[in-house]
Order: sequence, then structure tokens, then C-alpha cells
Amino acid sequence: MTPAAAPAAQVSIRAPAKINVGLAVLGARADGYHELRTLFQTVSLCDLILLRRARRGVRVCCPALPGLGESNLAHRAAALFLERTGVPGGVRIDLQKRIPAGAGLGGGSSDAAAVLLGCCRLFGLRPEPARLRDWAAALGSDVPFFLEGGSAVGSGRGERIEPLQPFPGPVVALLHLGAEGLSTAAVYRAVRAGALTGGTRAFTILLARWREGNLRRLGTSLFNDLEIPAFALAPGLAAVKEQFDKAGALGTLLCGSGSGVFGLFGSAHAADRARGRLKAVLPGRLVKAAFLPARRRWGVVKR
Ligand code: C5P
Repeated sequence: MTPAAAPAAQVSIRAPAKINVGLAVLGARADGYHELRTLFQTVSLCDLILLRRARRGVRVCCPALPGLGESNLAHRAAALFLERTGVPGGVRIDLQKRIPAGAGLGGGSSDAAAVLLGCCRLFGLRPEPARLRDWAAALGSDVPFFLEGGSAVGSGRGERIEPLQPFPGPVVALLHLGAEGLSTAAVYRAVRAGALTGGTRAFTILLARWREGNLRRLGTSLFNDLEIPAFALAPGLAAVKEQFDKAGALGTLLCGSGSGVFGLFGSAHAADRARGRLKAVLPGRLVKAAFLPARRRWGVVKR
């Protein structure tokens, strides 16, 4: 493994949320996962992570979620880093959660990717990109995407990533974050083969519209095969989507496996106007978020 720059005393790193602008479930696999084709996009709602070297082991402090255990993805990412690299010492992680769990925004996966990248800086290591991707994929299907973020197409169980040019037009997302989260595994378990869109064709159309840059046309092509099972588990979500449409969103979709919902707007002004209307009819949080470019454009802070 190549040493990077000098190790750092501490590293602070943002972990952005993602939305899936399209998500085709192509079928169930023998290993218990589902074969996917998805268009990932990072957005500007971020968790904040501060990493410091410790004498040994991993400790995660998160005021919003006291008592986080070893199953937490940030914890598992640091433990995996220590184990695979064999560096001496430990890591202390201070986690400020802004991305709610169970929203389909990939918060835990993004934290895990940020911890892997941050640990590399903290210990002054630069693993080969393929190794880093393997570590990320061992932590979860969405984790490899978050190593780079931005816009990308995911395939396999979501862990095979091909970068995509950013959407070439103005776009602002408005996220609805309800009180009730959904379990990703439960939503996938509720997928019924007969209810799938036959996704590949829909996905090809979506990609063509993405490249075209006309948000109105892109908005009509959004699709997510997890909506049917998620709406069956949480029937209120269909009404949230309807409210977004009434409030003037150019496209509205479930975030990943839910329970978050996003709407797309052509300007911050249009998103603000819709937020005003939606506040009056929807309980829960409404968060305006920009599409975020790939991490190499904004990075990691060392101190
Ligand atoms: O990979 P990750 O641990 O994030 O996945 C959580 C759960 O979601 C898996 O255990 C699986 O039940 C389901 N899943 C799936 N197909 C995928 C991704 C996740 O069935 N492509």
C-alpha cells in the first residue's frame, strides 16, 4: 500500500445523502440480494464526521443516537480499516447525524464510506482504489458509490459503479422525511416479481433524458421499482407523492427503499414555494437539497 501524505491529528469529513433518480429491480439473486440498475445522485444533506486517532479499538460518539453499537456502519468501517491495514492504534469517531435512518437516503452507507476515506488520511495511507472498493462493498451495497458520489450508474447489487456526467440543467431537490422509517431488507422482501417494470428499457429512457438536460422531460421518466412494495408497507407514502405533484414538482419519487420522498424543481425559488405549500399539508421535515458533484471536487479536511 502506498503511503499518502503525512498522517493527520484529526480529519473532518462530510457524508452526503443520496437519492435514486431511477431504480430498476431486475430480479432476485441466489445470494439473497436483488440485481439492480440504478442512477445514484448525492445531495447536499450531509452527516458530519470527525475522526481522531485513539490508543486502540473503535469508539463512536453520536449525541443523536446514544449507545450506538458495533453493528453501526461507521463503527464497522473503522474496524474493517484497522483489521485490513494492520495499522497500530484505534479510531474515535464523532458523528453528527443529519440524515435520518430508514429514509432510503443511504446515510449509514455514506458514513461508512466517509470513515474509510477519512481513516486513510488519518493514518497517511493510500490503498489501491480497487481494494478500497472491495472494503466498501463488504460493508454494504451502496457504500462503493459513496467513495466518489456525484452522479453514477450502479449495477449488480448496486456496488458496481460507473460515473455519469452531472445533470446538465438547473435542478433542486426537496426531500420529505417522515417520522416512520422503513427497513431496506423488509422492502426488498416485499418485492413481487410480477410487479416489476421490466426496468432495462425504462432505465435506458431515463439515462437519455438525464443526458438531454430537460428537467420537465426527466421528471416524467423517474421510476423506482421499490415504490410498490414500500407503499404496501407504508400506505401513507402514496399520498405524500401526490401532494408533491400538486405542489408543482416536475418529478416525484420514493428515495431508495423509502420512507423519504423527493421532488425535483427547476429553481430554489420553485422549491421554496412548494415547501410552503407542503408544510401546510404534510407532517414531518421538508429539506431543500442541491445535487452534489463527485467528492474529488470538494473532498476531505485534514487538520
Ligand atoms: O447491502 P446492504 O446491507 O445495504 O443491504 C441491506 C439489505 O437489503 C440486504 O440484506 C438485502 O435484504 C436487501 N438488498 C437486496 N438487494 C440489493 C440491495 C439490498 O435485496 N441489491
